[in-house]
Amino acid sequence: MCKIQCLLAIFTLYIGLVNSWDIAITTGGQLEFYSNKTKTNSEGVRFRDLTALAYDAVHNMLLFVDKQNDNASIFSYHLATKKYQSLVRRKSYENIQGLAFDPVKGLLFWTDTNERSIYWMSLMPGSKNDIYGNLLIKMDDEIPRAIAVDSCRGYIYWTNINITKPTIERARFDGTGREIIIDKDIYMPVSIAVDQQTQKLYWADDREGIHYSIESADLDGRNIKTLYMGTYHQPNALAVSKDAIYWVDWGYKSVWKLPKESTKSLDPVELIGFSNEVPFGIVANYQIKDQTEGTNECEELIKLSQNKTLINDTFNIPRDVGLFCLHGVKVNGQLACNCSAGYTGQRCEISICHNYCFKGECEIASDGTPECRCNNGFKGERCEINICDGYCLNKGICSVDQEQGPLCKCSKEFEGPRCELLSTINSVKLERLPSSVTERCNCTPELNVSKSVPLSSENLRNNELPFVEINDCNYGWDSVRDPVIMILGIACALLCIACTVLVAKILKLKKRPRIKKRIIVNKNVTPLTARPDQCEITIENCCNMNICETPCFEPRSTIRPNLLDSKPGKEEKKTLINNMEYPEDY
Ligand SMILES: *[C@@H]1O[C@H](CO)[C@@H](O)[C@H](O)[C@H]1NC(C)=O
Ligand SMILES: *[C@@H]1O[C@H](CO)[C@@H](O)[C@H](O)[C@H]1NC(C)=O
Ligand SMILES: *[C@@H]1O[C@H](CO)[C@@H](O)[C@H](O)[C@H]1NC(C)=O
Ligand SMILES: *[C@@H]1O[C@H](CO)[C@@H](O)[C@H](O)[C@H]1NC(C)=O
Ligand SMILES: *[C@@H]1O[C@H](CO)[C@@H](O)[C@H](O)[C@H]1NC(C)=O
Ligand SMILES: *[C@@H]1O[C@H](CO)[C@@H](O)[C@H](O)[C@H]1NC(C)=O
Ligand SMILES: *[C@@H]1O[C@H](CO)[C@@H](O)[C@H](O)[C@H]1NC(C)=O
Repeated sequence: MCKIQCLLAIFTLYIGLVNSWDIAITTGGQLEFYSNKTKTNSEGVRFRDLTALAYDAVHNMLLFVDKQNDNASIFSYHLATKKYQSLVRRKSYENIQGLAFDPVKGLLFWTDTNERSIYWMSLMPGSKNDIYGNLLIKMDDEIPRAIAVDSCRGYIYWTNINITKPTIERARFDGTGREIIIDKDIYMPVSIAVDQQTQKLYWADDREGIHYSIESADLDGRNIKTLYMGTYHQPNALAVSKDAIYWVDWGYKSVWKLPKESTKSLDPVELIGFSNEVPFGIVANYQIKDQTEGTNECEELIKLSQNKTLINDTFNIPRDVGLFCLHGVKVNGQLACNCSAGYTGQRCEISICHNYCFKGECEIASDGTPECRCNNGFKGERCEINICDGYCLNKGICSVDQEQGPLCKCSKEFEGPRCELLSTINSVKLERLPSSVTERCNCTPELNVSKSVPLSSENLRNNELPFVEINDCNYGWDSVRDPVIMILGIACALLCIACTVLVAKILKLKKRPRIKKRIIVNKNVTPLTARPDQCEITIENCCNMNICETPCFEPRSTIRPNLLDSKPGKEEKKTLINNMEYPEDY
């Protein structure tokens, strides 16, 4: 049942691919198109590192930068025909951050933060362009980053991210009439967009620390309004559509959306999250009809959207043969780069300093190896060692002094440069010593903690007390205490011995079955054969013994009353027992 619906859905998606997008994003080597959170299409297999992005709604064309292309840096992509064109030849040292296109005059503008310049190029048929683009404005202190055009009034707007004096400025398309329109309450305006419908500027400000804000103002810079103030985003590009503001965030690697007519209570929603590549540029599919609805300053743009002038984006960009080497020179006639010192990679795009020093500045030494200049408090070849690590012992708190290096703030029990010494005796619980040592001894009550062996925090953690010597502090004979202890000890020992002897005797006595013996010796009335575990002797046996020469069956009354008690009687009994079959049993 789903099959037909799914197929239909896929088919519809496929048919409407090009026009069914809300936003387009550059990420990695791809141009990605999204419609309401869903990726509908992606393009650009031959690209490597796409950055800035602009959209021309008149000609339905995307313009974008590939930072790592061999031959060109700025390209166009016609969504209807799916045709790519290269527009501007790559310079060896460039960093294009912002891109904007004015369809009315067919002018392409871009900012180069390395050159601190704004360049332009005309796509009108028959126009003369420098192959690298034409310089429009060269700046000294300002660092241009984002750029936007107001096609209705003929202005370019750009942001300057010099932290010392950040500004938002504008100028005419020919570079004249340059003016600062915003220079207050901004920190690092990283992106800018112009909206004809609201006649406003929108920008994202990457504020100090974790903060960022989304702002708007009139086109002349008045009526600045903070639409949203947030934390943890690192905004980059920003785009405006009919009803929303979108921005790319490097902090969460995602794209966020905020309603355009936002009240401050509304939070942005995360529209798209990226896992591998970081998104860079973003444009919204904002049709000219929607943009210019109800405005009367955009006649030319409206006219143009109905009857498009042809633009010429087939430039003869000379093709570089082979690789473009970012930091190096091409090896003659080969697809290889000879990198300058400090760079590696197929096109020398990787600085050997990249991620080399953990906490410090990296410099490339004359032999081409990376060298770290460590930040205060760090050392090691790659500044990976915190000089405070394990420096202060015994829970001392380490801080770094600019000149002296690590400094320890010891807890009150310890002292010394690394808190390795015990400070006073009383403060440490030395359980091995009687607490009264100081009072009792006439010597200096100073404990000589062996200084050569520093206490390590590990010892203390294991509850091992430090070795403590007590110099000249011998215990004298105490005339009261010591004899008492001695006497008590001896008494105790004697008592113990006596006890042992007694117990042993008692045990021995218990073992002797005296009753049976008595029966045998004295009564001998009953034969004991019925009880095999006891005396086995029969009366005959008994009488066969020598001892029994005296009558065995002597009636009780005839027994001498003193037999048991008398010594001879005892003697007889003993002999009798010894001569029995199993004397050991008795
Ligand atoms: C976009 O998707 C959300 C839910 O995913 C849905 O509620 C909303 O109606 C969709 N909007 C459009 C314009 O399709
Ligand atoms: C487009 O521009 C190029 C280079 O400037 C030129 O050679 C070509 O003839 C132009 N094409 C049209 C249709 O004007
Ligand atoms: C920023 O601008 C100030 C003057 O406004 C200038 O002194 C400084 O060098 C600039 N910073 C950079 C990084 O160019
Ligand atoms: C479109 O513009 C061209 C010249 O720019 C003009 O010749 C043509 O008549 C216009 N077409 C329409 C339908 O307005
Ligand atoms: C650069 O130009 C060369 C030579 O024409 C071509 O083979 C190569 O594909 C081009 N590179 C790109 C990324 O377009
Ligand atoms: C690379 O450049 C260095 C000097 O910059 C040169 O000595 C070396 O021969 C070059 N290597 C190749 C393969 O061209
Ligand atoms: C403690 O030991 C040090 C050297 O280990 C010695 O110089 C000092 O005199 C000793 N102090 C006492 C009170 O014994």
